[in-house]
Amino acid sequence: MDPRGAGIRTVMSAPAQDTSSRQAPASQDVFAGVLRRAPPAQQLPFQYFQDRNKRWPFSTSAAGAELLQRLFADARKVVEIIDSTIQQQCAADDAARERVLSAGVELYARKPSIKNADVTWSQEEYRHIGLQREYVKFKSVQRFTETWACMERADARGVFASLASAAQQKREVRVASLGGGPGFELIAVREYFNAKYPGVTLDLVSLDVEESWRASAEGLGLRFIQWDMKDGGVARACGGAIDFAIASYVFKMYMCENDVADWFARELADITACLVINRDEKLQQGCELVQSRGVDVLKLLRQDNGRDDRQLVFSRDRTFESWTSATPMAMTFPNVPYEEHKTSSDRGHRGGGGGAAGGWRRDGRSQGGAGRPSAPPRDPSRW
Ligand SMILES: C[S@@+](CC[C@H](N)C(=O)[O-])C[C@H]1O[C@@H](n2cnc3c(N)ncnc32)[C@H](O)[C@@H]1O
Repeated sequence: MDPRGAGIRTVMSAPAQDTSSRQAPASQDVFAGVLRRAPPAQQLPFQYFQDRNKRWPFSTSAAGAELLQRLFADARKVVEIIDSTIQQQCAADDAARERVLSAGVELYARKPSIKNADVTWSQEEYRHIGLQREYVKFKSVQRFTETWACMERADARGVFASLASAAQQKREVRVASLGGGPGFELIAVREYFNAKYPGVTLDLVSLDVEESWRASAEGLGLRFIQWDMKDGGVARACGGAIDFAIASYVFKMYMCENDVADWFARELADITACLVINRDEKLQQGCELVQSRGVDVLKLLRQDNGRDDRQLVFSRDRTFESWTSATPMAMTFPNVPYEEHKTSSDRGHRGGGGGAAGGWRRDGRSQGGAGRPSAPPRDPSRW
């Protein structure tokens, strides 16, 4: 096989540019330029972007590029569903449609609620169809790659060991995303389990209080259930026991409350594990909240250069392996979430090529990217 991924159709292979979505016409392919072939000196053959302005290239293998192409195909269908909803709402009034689209772009970029309400977007903003369109365009890649990387790390520690018998028994495995929204983390689960545990059949459920995510989640082939985090009762809501849960970008904002921690700790007794994916490296209070209720917290990222809680596994009365530096893993999406601010000896999870993995450094300078000497500082609100 061509090591540079011959046969993979890249959406666009032009060099990185600051192509702000503000100028992008709605008809343009929403993933144009998100995946491209890497410059010749790079060790991995493809680069992709998680960020809106395509400033920070990450690297991946041909297999990673193929996964991304499939993700784009899924997400394009969701954008089409959203576009037809907007079209209906605007009764073919082009000016009204443009207003919805640009309001969505504005909400996505400005995050007006982040200062006052300490949430990225308010529920009213999540409900905005233009914001949902932007969310699907930009969060799909980040959520997919982060969940896939989290699953590779969790798998290496035996978190999915029970799936071998589920596959043999041809048993359905149920995975619920708590506050799952459109559910791109579940698309990573589907692709990962299909690739690594091909015998299992999956029931993937996005649980979210915001009913208007239903069309997107169902467009991705997921089940969607309107559900309030405050109520718990995950298995009841899903219609049966849960094998695995995911809390992707919801733990700090919506789960670090006594009432939620109470039911979460109780229900974890019947769930093999919950993958907890965050942007915050320091979640001491949140971890203590669940640990004080008998939950074990397994950290998937290295801790020897400072606390890093961005990828965790919560479980009860299960034994998984702790992190070990003995066998660095070959990651499909190296440096996800970005760890370039750690010294190279601290990075436990390298790319297949073992070298520069792209992304960015804490000081704001890009790595393994478009060859610029420096880049603007990382935007801390980009999530
Ligand atoms: C940052 S988004 C995360 C969505 C998805 N998990 C992801 O990673 O892209 C937060 C989600 O939590 C949902 N949410 C907020 N409050 C909730 C609640 N009380 N119960 C359930 N979902 C809630 C929002 O509607 C939104 O979809």
